[in-house]
Amino acid sequence: MSPHAPQGRWQGQSRRIHMQEVGTRDGLQMESVFVPTEEKIALVNALSETGLAKIEVTSFVSPKAIPALRDAEIVMREITRKPGFVYAALVPNVRGVERAIDAQTDELNLVMSASETHNQSNLRMSRDESFTALSQVAQAGRQAGVSINVSLSCSFGCPMEGDVAEQSVLDGCRRFIEEWGSHGVTLCDTTGMAYPSQVYTLIQAFRSRWPDTELTLHFHNTRGLGLANVLAAIDAGADRFDSSLGGLGGCPYAPGATGNVCSEEIVHALELMGYDTGVDLNALIVAARRLPALIGHDIPSQIVKAGQRLDLHPKAC
Ligand code: COA
Ligand code: ZN
Repeated sequence: MSPHAPQGRWQGQSRRIHMQEVGTRDGLQMESVFVPTEEKIALVNALSETGLAKIEVTSFVSPKAIPALRDAEIVMREITRKPGFVYAALVPNVRGVERAIDAQTDELNLVMSASETHNQSNLRMSRDESFTALSQVAQAGRQAGVSINVSLSCSFGCPMEGDVAEQSVLDGCRRFIEEWGSHGVTLCDTTGMAYPSQVYTLIQAFRSRWPDTELTLHFHNTRGLGLANVLAAIDAGADRFDSSLGGLGGCPYAPGATGNVCSEEIVHALELMGYDTGVDLNALIVAARRLPALIGHDIPSQIVKAGQRLDLHPKAC
């Protein structure tokens, strides 16, 4: 813990914050190169050893829509499972659930959008159709004894429609939790439209209604507000975040989408403030350094570029 951390609201006081890695899903879905299957498996295995809470390993979506993840089955089957660790995958429909369950996925992440326009472009159906289709998907998952999480894209704004009403986000959450029996909900800021005061209000509203539901926040750093939003969310009672190794990521069906909040940047910041992420930051940085060779370009990570706060330099002459 930093000796300079002040007391009060900025002091983590060893509170546990759960970090969930989405780089191999949200990150790689946006890349034009196909990362070889054995490299994906090796990356997931390395991430399993870093103390993260959960990994979204891949997506069981149409291989025509997201060719970068066309090897979902092999990756999910061949990774080395660490006991107690949750290996999740995104599924858009019943076909995806069948494939995911067959490949022994621990948790299904169902996805729909808080915005009608984004739902149409991402999933090619209306929100009403998604509610109907995904309730069947959730039922199929529950019958198979698999844990269900629902991700609500564009919960903090839509790049095509603008503001999304908080009540509409909460209405969606009510259906997921009270009607479908979802174990968890993820509020996604798909294109970095969230800002701290908005985040605080929405999370407080969510928490006061569903204190026992596993709530995850999924921020993108599109406008540089990622870490500020994480801190506002923690202030409002959140303790679970998606993040992406190296800061990769983005939705191919959302104009202007860029990377998720960067795993090593968030862990670095939270640990300095005295929060307990349980993550081995050095191991995470080593894993992030593998990315440029795999994807063929530089990564946004400021921690890979600059090092940790106390990585000191020799005195300049
Ligand atoms: N797994 C594998 N193949 C699938 C599939 C799945 N879960 N869902 C659909 N397909 C295949 C169908 O078999 C069909 O293949 P064919 O053309 O060879 O017959 C093709 O995809 C189209 O299927 P259809 O049922 O008409 O679906 P669609 O065209 O309406 O596609 C989605 C809807 C959402 C399944 C598809 O667009 C998709 O997977 N998109 C990716 C969404 C995504 O990952 N977004 C980013 C993350 S939020
Ligand atoms: Zn995302």
